[in-house]
Amino acid sequence: MSLNATAPLRLLVCVGPRCDETGGGRALHAALAQALAEKFPDALSSGRVALQSRDCLRVCTRAQILRLEPSGEVFSDPAVEDLLRLVAVELQNDDPL
Ligand code: FES
Repeated sequence: MSLNATAPLRLLVCVGPRCDETGGGRALHAALAQALAEKFPDALSSGRVALQSRDCLRVCTRAQILRLEPSGEVFSDPAVEDLLRLVAVELQNDDPL
């Protein structure tokens, strides 16, 4: 699925009381911040990709939760590598011809 080319891709990591009960939410946020800065520095600095945290995304389990916007897709305990692949695909889909 391709997202709207004009909308930035936002990765929202929950660091709320359930998701971060054992530190997993903040660990996911930190790992993603490092990985995105390494793989997509230009997209981050231009605002095409953004990483943010939230206190609760209202889909609590006991795993780390991440929501993509604008699609609204929710991932439970996602692998950083899988998210990087998803970001790469979305950025490629947004490239002008
Ligand atoms: S605490 Fe993470 S979704 Fe509610």
